[in-house]
Amino acid sequence: ISLLTDRIDDDLLAAAGPQLKIVANVAVGFNNVDVAAATRRRVLITNTPGVLDDATATLTMALLLATARRLAEADAYIRAGKWKGWTPDFFMGLDVDGKTLGIVGAGRIGRNTARKARAFGMRILYCGRRRDEAFEAETGAQHRDRDALLAEADYVSLHLPLNEETRHFIGARELSLMKPTAVLINAARGPVVDERALVEALRSRTIWGAGLDVFEHEPELAPGLAELPNVVLAPHIGSATPATREAMARMAARNVIEALNGRPPLSPVNPEVLG
Ligand code: GLV
Repeated sequence: ISLLTDRIDDDLLAAAGPQLKIVANVAVGFNNVDVAAATRRRVLITNTPGVLDDATATLTMALLLATARRLAEADAYIRAGKWKGWTPDFFMGLDVDGKTLGIVGAGRIGRNTARKARAFGMRILYCGRRRDEAFEAETGAQHRDRDALLAEADYVSLHLPLNEETRHFIGARELSLMKPTAVLINAARGPVVDERALVEALRSRTIWGAGLDVFEHEPELAPGLAELPNVVLAPHIGSATPATREAMARMAARNVIEALNGRPPLSPVNPEVLG
């Protein structure tokens, strides 16, 4: 049973030897696992999809709202004893109602986030490999390609798995396509964003702000990121509620029990190993 901080590479699989049947990752993301190597060695890999969608989408909305209304900055301001009283134009933030949210990667968590955002009166755009008509009918979401979504959205939220195709999916070029009033939210995986380019874009106000739960080199942050006022930071806590973490742990345990008893596991990543 592995955590997302455990690197399951070919060397580890070789050291474990042929008695290793399954690695059950306690995470929906499995970029810490060399799935091709595992499949070659006929080791089953499983993850924990579904049970963390609500918690992660809620954290995504929390980051979006906190960034728009500058909550981290405001909290630090009061604690530093700087607040001298109410004035009409003090700590102005961004509107959320009626604004456009661009969902990048409309899988389970992206779709769940869109549903929650609808309750805040947001209009939804999404990009992904294929159109999802049921999602469009449910949320009114409209499909765009990446660049069109980045240019049109007021908020851009990333929900992509990390792999070689999605590494630095958002870099300097993509950030430059966004509106100067736009906000980027990442509760997916840090390396999906070029973090140094993001620091530069936030510093130069190429974009307005960012809310981040994940980082390129956790737990390290890109130089300058923590000094910026227009970013809200969270330490990879998307699924961090007791009920969600318990459901993830149970799902991983159940995957192991099923696999070791010769039954199909709940959520195989490389089901071809079973055949
Ligand atoms: C958490 O980051 C997960 O992938 O479950």
